[in-house]
Amino acid sequence: MRKPFIAGNWKMHKTRSEAKELAGELVKQLKGVDQRVMIAPPFTALAEVGSVLADSSIVLGAQNMAVAEEGAHTGEVSPAMLKDCGVSIVILGHSERRHVYGETDELIHQKLLLALKHELEVILCLGETLDEREAGRAEEVVRRQLKSGLDDVDTDGLRRVTIAYEPVWAIGTGKTASPEDADQIHRMIRQEIARLYGDKAAENMLIQYGGSVKPNNIADLMAKENIDGALVGGASLKTETFVPIVNFNK
Ligand code: PGA
Repeated sequence: MRKPFIAGNWKMHKTRSEAKELAGELVKQLKGVDQRVMIAPPFTALAEVGSVLADSSIVLGAQNMAVAEEGAHTGEVSPAMLKDCGVSIVILGHSERRHVYGETDELIHQKLLLALKHELEVILCLGETLDEREAGRAEEVVRRQLKSGLDDVDTDGLRRVTIAYEPVWAIGTGKTASPEDADQIHRMIRQEIARLYGDKAAENMLIQYGGSVKPNNIADLMAKENIDGALVGGASLKTETFVPIVNFNK
């Protein structure tokens, strides 16, 4: 059985005090939930949110990570620095990193290997643009991103990877992929994992959906066989929307 995993990506929102307040509320309101829950505040709030989450079951995530361990990398944050703040999961390959900041498949792959080396878990984001979908290339693009991201990762490493399928055209736009369309891509991802790592690894693989997930569409998405959780942007910024998403099955 795959345990549902709901993650909030706060992107570039919240000062330290705002972040602390939201994290504190979430700890209170989500006490005892069965789902696995992660929140990823901006770097500047990681340490503070980390101490708020310390005795809770909510896991601290980071939104990005440097591709190097230390040195002359102006503006970057290393795996050890993340761990020092209490981070245990890092989101890699988010479409905003790929498309706004020019991160390539290869760079994301190197970051993923480095994160695993430092015993961080990874949420690896994959997803096609609108042009790619309209050209009938969605599966091909997602398969390429998946294979490249996981290159050189063994079965042990794979256990610390969650996949997030996030069609770029659905992020922050209010357009969600239909549960059927999302499930079709999720199924393809699972089949690809089975081909690369075997049936057991595929069965255990957690695949989140992301892109305009809201309280009113989460249950239909989660009802699909291959959708195991969600990576939530906008709706993760308020308890009124994030808590009902986490409690989708209540
Ligand atoms: P959204 O963002 O929920 O605001 O569409 C999702 C994401 O980018 O992870």
